[in-house]
Amino acid sequence: MADLTSARILVASNRGPVSFSSGPDGALTLKRGGGGLVSGLSAIDDPNAVWVCAALSEADRQAARQSPQGRLDRGGFDVGGQAVRMLDLDPEVFDQAYNGVANSTLWFLHHQLYNTPVAPAFDAEAAQRWQGFTAYNRAFAEALAAEAAPGAAVLVQDYHLSLVPELLRELRPDLRISYFLHIPWAPADYFRLLPEEQARAVLTGVLGADRAGFHTRRWALAFAECCAEVLDAEVDRTGLTVRHQGRTTRLGVHSLGADGEFLRERAHRPDVDERLAALRAAVGPRRTIVRVDRTELSKNIVRGLLAYRHLLRSRPEWRGKVVHVAFAYPSRQDLVEYRDYTAAVRRISEEINAEFATADWQPLILQVEDDFARSLAAYRLADVALVNPIRDGMNLVAKEVPVVSEAGCALVLSREAGAWAELAEDAIGINPYDVLGTADALHRALTMPADERTERTKRLAAAATALPPQQWFLDQLAALSS
Ligand code: F6P
Repeated sequence: MADLTSARILVASNRGPVSFSSGPDGALTLKRGGGGLVSGLSAIDDPNAVWVCAALSEADRQAARQSPQGRLDRGGFDVGGQAVRMLDLDPEVFDQAYNGVANSTLWFLHHQLYNTPVAPAFDAEAAQRWQGFTAYNRAFAEALAAEAAPGAAVLVQDYHLSLVPELLRELRPDLRISYFLHIPWAPADYFRLLPEEQARAVLTGVLGADRAGFHTRRWALAFAECCAEVLDAEVDRTGLTVRHQGRTTRLGVHSLGADGEFLRERAHRPDVDERLAALRAAVGPRRTIVRVDRTELSKNIVRGLLAYRHLLRSRPEWRGKVVHVAFAYPSRQDLVEYRDYTAAVRRISEEINAEFATADWQPLILQVEDDFARSLAAYRLADVALVNPIRDGMNLVAKEVPVVSEAGCALVLSREAGAWAELAEDAIGINPYDVLGTADALHRALTMPADERTERTKRLAAAATALPPQQWFLDQLAALSS
């Protein structure tokens, strides 16, 4: 087990690599998470690395309380060799930070999701939530400060922790701090929706880092623009640096790629084969359009469904010949906007089936349970993948499909996804708001000649795996040392 003040590499994120659930007898069961960060961290072999995250549920909080000093050491909860420290925060503070600010204000801001005649409204309740967000960020900074060895490298992840770099630097000026944003950064005119004090706090929060990383140059430049306009900071747009109050923060672009080796192996395990057989039976000899998302406002599922409906209405030759498989698993159901959106996705799916289904053809299969093996089966089967977010930091589905696809898969991709920067050459680009344009793109994708599809898929897979998670993680560490 790592010594409590000797961590040389620390990672901080809201959602950690493990979660707990409590059984009917109260016993806690540990579940390991997946995702880029978990794979990325597996690249370092350091017994003194620590991952600091929040307890997200009552079961997590119980687990955190049961472990010595709130720490889940390697004896109990080893995650690829790293110790995990789960912060047992006041549930109200956590709710204010996670639901109230991170996933409402900051998520809506950076994805440009506000319906501005009515939202946002920065009233007294919003001010309260902001205080919770500040307290939550301070708790992370204090935990990191307590664990880090002198001169340690601290990699702070994502918008939930925007204030941490500055708070941590105040506590521990000796540390090397990097910040990475997994979502887009809002353009300056939109970012100004935030009250000035909060806008400044978010920017100076990030600028507390030595390095701030983004998935694309576009998001890095948007951040720099906000620093110039809101803070009057000195910005070098070519060299990607921001100088403010005597300190320089270097901006970096690290475009997270798919984990090709893992995906290829995982996609051929028996549980995936089983699901593939079931999907094949459901789809029959027809073409398949696949989408896989969290049911998330920014993913633009509703317009995707409308585009499919338009395809069937305007090109009747596809009726009975194509099936749209949509996996839209639930996310952030504490927020009313997400619950309403989930209901809209279900409603439109039912409408599509009611309008077009025949005795032997179901035009749309919507599934809402999260099942990674089934997603991989769908990737293997897909003739067309639809990835049409309004805005997205990266979008790993767009990168995973070409890696796993069996017969070649045409990719219809939003130009507003970070992945577009690397995949533009071989994907079919769409404006995510343009329903008719998306329907045309689906038609083009469905009619793409087989050889062209295979060739494009090969090139897409190569581009998608250019920076696998392990290398992505090591690059950030290296950038911090340089
Ligand atoms: O990539 C953005 C992100 O918010 C991650 O930080 C997060 O783990 C993921 O999407 C899923 O969101 P949530 O943790 O709120 O379920």
